[in-house]
Amino acid sequence: MRAYYLNGTNGIDSVQQCERPDPTPGRGQVLIRMHAVSLNYRDLMVAQGQYGAPAGGGIIPLSDGAGEVIAVGTDVTRFVVGDRVSPTFMTKWIGGAMSAPVMSSALGGDIDGVLAELVVCDEHAAVRLPNHLSYEQAACLPCAALTAWSALHGPRPVAAGDVVLTLGTGGVSVFAVQFAHAAGARIIATSSSDKKLEALRGVGASDLINYSQHPEWEHEVLRLTNGRGVDHVVETVGGGTLPQSITATAVSGHVHLIGVLSGGQLDPLSLMTRKTLRGIMVGSTEEFEAMNRVIDLHRIEPIIDRVYAFDEAPKAYEHLASSSHVGKIVVRID
Ligand SMILES: NC(=O)c1ccc[n+]([C@@H]2O[C@H](COP(=O)([O-])OP(=O)(O)OC[C@H]3O[C@@H](n4cnc5c(N)ncnc54)[C@H](OP(=O)(O)O)[C@@H]3O)[C@@H](O)[C@H]2O)c1
Repeated sequence: MRAYYLNGTNGIDSVQQCERPDPTPGRGQVLIRMHAVSLNYRDLMVAQGQYGAPAGGGIIPLSDGAGEVIAVGTDVTRFVVGDRVSPTFMTKWIGGAMSAPVMSSALGGDIDGVLAELVVCDEHAAVRLPNHLSYEQAACLPCAALTAWSALHGPRPVAAGDVVLTLGTGGVSVFAVQFAHAAGARIIATSSSDKKLEALRGVGASDLINYSQHPEWEHEVLRLTNGRGVDHVVETVGGGTLPQSITATAVSGHVHLIGVLSGGQLDPLSLMTRKTLRGIMVGSTEEFEAMNRVIDLHRIEPIIDRVYAFDEAPKAYEHLASSSHVGKIVVRID
């Protein structure tokens, strides 16, 4: 089969095409013909050897994709040939609370990923696609969408009338806007660009802040909420914006920490007013299936910035690195 692998850890230059033996499904496994994959910011970090990738590279990159089951191993009960599926990001996290052992099972980081014509995975590490989505749309879900879902549907799920703050217009943030909108929340969104903000208005954000024009955007958030602050922050940037996000959070509100785009320092006192800072790590098979039911119910469609051909995969990485996109960048396999 055709695939890409990481030849070293020199960033995008390491993303190189190769031939690999066709995999065959063992007991309890399914063989998937991939039709589309999508990129996440994390994939740039993996290519630079910064994010859980084996030293020296060598793995097939990318975690997110969608395809069709073309063979099943013995004892498979969840799928039959012809089913449209996605492999899950954390292949050993089936359900329940996250635990340390499942953390080292991430596609395109710890183990071979999905930028390949064929992928084999355990049947419990795959989910059915929502019927209304194309393969390209469904390829956007496993990491970006599930991360946004886990943030907003954890122990304190977003409720109708809550106020949700999202940062930037990348893959995770756009899904967060869509899920918050589906839950009946008011959404305040930030971005570096007015044009990108308009795209968020189209999927449900009602209050838009350009953080280049308002570097102290937390005060804009407080102004827009009459000083109260928001119930949930989907924190996709990280340490650099965390103090501002906490300031923008209501008393007893929740900050869902997702991003590693920038580092910084935290004043513990800023959390004392019963604010919760909660770390997010994508999600389980069980959570993925719950999310897909809601995507199905509300006919939510991922926002795709651009689709590249298989041979253009390194260009897709460059596009992601430019941060000029809104939503997701996809590579078609067939
Ligand atoms: N913990 C987890 O489970 C998990 C899962 C997925 C992703 N992540 C992390 O979440 C982050 C986002 O991932 P992604 O794939 O959605 O990224 P992405 O598609 O590359 O989006 C990045 C966007 O963030 C915005 N941004 C950058 N710096 C910003 C700043 N200082 N303030 C506000 N917005 C800023 C920019 O949008 P604008 O130009 O519109 O401002 C940029 O386009 C990454 O750090 C990634 O590693 C974590």
